[in-house]
Amino acid sequence: MSAQIESVLQEERIFPVPEAFARQANVSGMAQYEALQAEAEKDNAGFWARLARENLTWIKPFTRSLDESNAPFYKWFEDGELNVSANCLDRHLGTPVENETAIIFEADDGAITRVTYRELYERVCRFASGLKALGYKKGDRAIIYLPMSIQGVVAMQACARLGIIHSVVFGGFSSKSLHERIIDVGATLVVTADEQVRGGRNIPLKAAIDEAFAMGGCEAVRKVIVYQRTGAKVAMESGRDITWDQAIEGQPAECAPEPVSAEHPLFVLYTSGSTGKPKGVQHSSGGFLLQAVMSMKWTFDLKPEDVFWCTADIGWVTGHTYITYGPLACGATEIVFEGIPTWPNSGRFWEMIARHKVTIFYTAPTAIRSLVKAGETSPDHHPRNYDLSSLRLLGSVGEPINPEAWMWYYTNVGGERCPIVDTWWQTETGAHMINPLPGVHALKPGSCAMPLPGIEATIVDETGAEVERGKGGFLVIKKPWPAMIRTIWNDPERFKSSYYPADFQGRYYVAGDGASRDLDGYFWIMGRIDDVLNVSGHRLGTMEIESALVAHDLVAEAAVVGRPDDVTGEAIVAFVVLKGPRPSGAEAKEVATTLRNWVGKEIGPIAKPKEIRFGENLPKTRSGKIMRRLLRNVAKGEEVTQDVSTLENPAILDQLKEAS
Ligand code: WT7
Repeated sequence: MSAQIESVLQEERIFPVPEAFARQANVSGMAQYEALQAEAEKDNAGFWARLARENLTWIKPFTRSLDESNAPFYKWFEDGELNVSANCLDRHLGTPVENETAIIFEADDGAITRVTYRELYERVCRFASGLKALGYKKGDRAIIYLPMSIQGVVAMQACARLGIIHSVVFGGFSSKSLHERIIDVGATLVVTADEQVRGGRNIPLKAAIDEAFAMGGCEAVRKVIVYQRTGAKVAMESGRDITWDQAIEGQPAECAPEPVSAEHPLFVLYTSGSTGKPKGVQHSSGGFLLQAVMSMKWTFDLKPEDVFWCTADIGWVTGHTYITYGPLACGATEIVFEGIPTWPNSGRFWEMIARHKVTIFYTAPTAIRSLVKAGETSPDHHPRNYDLSSLRLLGSVGEPINPEAWMWYYTNVGGERCPIVDTWWQTETGAHMINPLPGVHALKPGSCAMPLPGIEATIVDETGAEVERGKGGFLVIKKPWPAMIRTIWNDPERFKSSYYPADFQGRYYVAGDGASRDLDGYFWIMGRIDDVLNVSGHRLGTMEIESALVAHDLVAEAAVVGRPDDVTGEAIVAFVVLKGPRPSGAEAKEVATTLRNWVGKEIGPIAKPKEIRFGENLPKTRSGKIMRRLLRNVAKGEEVTQDVSTLENPAILDQLKEAS
């Protein structure tokens, strides 16, 4: 493992905790934070056990907190039994929360649907009863390929209710990606919709399922349930495909929650790694839910009166933890939004915050950066034109937030009144790991501040030694935590080598990010140090894109790198060698378009390279290794200053410098 890590420029500005905020906060002031940390430091497993007893409803209490006997396959609360859906719904029945709004759903066209906790409970029970009637049971796997909708949350919750392990596939992934996931997870059930609606456009979903089936190997899937979102006519295979309405017809609005071990997998969510094949990140029931709940209370300072809005899609981990599970387990009112931030205009987020009196708003830097631009070009939709006074807290997630975007968010959206919690975490961590607590930590734009109570994060060098303050290194987590990844589905060896590599004798969880700490101990994340790109907060493996490219008939070889981008954080640049002669001019443009669309089909539109450059070859060492660092320089348009004498073919650089 080697990486070029340099320390980042440090931000001078500091924003103290607003006193009024601190006074009312769930974790109020440094002393309270330090007390929690001290408790965790003394007895980490005992700390989490106390919180698990106090914050979750157990069917059978656990007797042991952490089991390290088969490290790094850690287990938490294993002999305890609970049901995640009962923790999100049943626990509110008979309390004042029962008749409160659980979800405010706003459709792409602005239509609003509200469901109370009682109604959501009934909808989940009815769908779960339907699944049961179809013969589905604990341990089965379901692929969920649904748009942002109440049905999406209901389907996930219904699975959790029966102990069915769900694997949600983001609606922007292609049939090929879907196919791969259906097979890898061994799904016997698929829940999808006829179409999804985004930005005024209808986009087919069921058709992608049909294409995936046509690729073969999906015979284990017995039923495909189709939610009719638009009513579009879609092919329905008799015996296999049924509508959502048929699945729930005549089903009771009660369905006993299935008790499961705290270690029972709640879901598998695929994410990109540094090799070609996506990893099925397996999460637990008890530990995952515990940290979903704790972070709602700690990071978001959630109170019963709050209206919480996380703009993520349920296809990503952020949507799992902070839409489907965390807010509901806490009895919050949350927004579920079908559409996109720029439709019908770029004031959509601000208009919705005003309309629904949102108090806590959680979004991604890429969305903020695109709205900064939009606010300049269409000043009518700048946040200043909307009443955002209901907001009291802002959040950021998915990628480093640059100080300019932070300042814009703080000033124009938060009215210089709302703390911003910049939350560092990953699909694998299950929940927030490093972020300021809004009633505790002064804020530095661009820093994700400090680990949450119970989380021991640090930065080490190649030898595993902790680095001095101000120096960069590998971000690692020293102790297991309840919401952590349990394994990679079907690939325990890959789990070990990816996250507990032998380089550090398996002592640390290695996040794959470079980071540094400043003199105050604040963490600054520098981004991925493996071959993973972060495009608009979406994680994509360079190898995955390369494999897609070389799968095209025209392509002999491909190398993919990231280049900084003002809006998307990183942009994908592909260097391609064709089997035939190197194209130029109009032909190069045409081939580039063909290949971009191809990648869109192979992986999904989010993986389409922004730029494709053609060469007769790629820069390689004499041993045949592609010099990616050089390619990164070229992609950025930087001068190549390093020694290229070890290159087998130095002349190739000039060719690649020319844009296609
Ligand atoms: C990677 C994880 C966590 C849910 C969404 C992304 C980057 C995430 C931050 C942040 C700097 C961040 C890291 C991480 N990342 N949050 N606040 N500051 N970088 O989940 O797709 O699993 O990606 O996103 O590089 O490793 P993911």
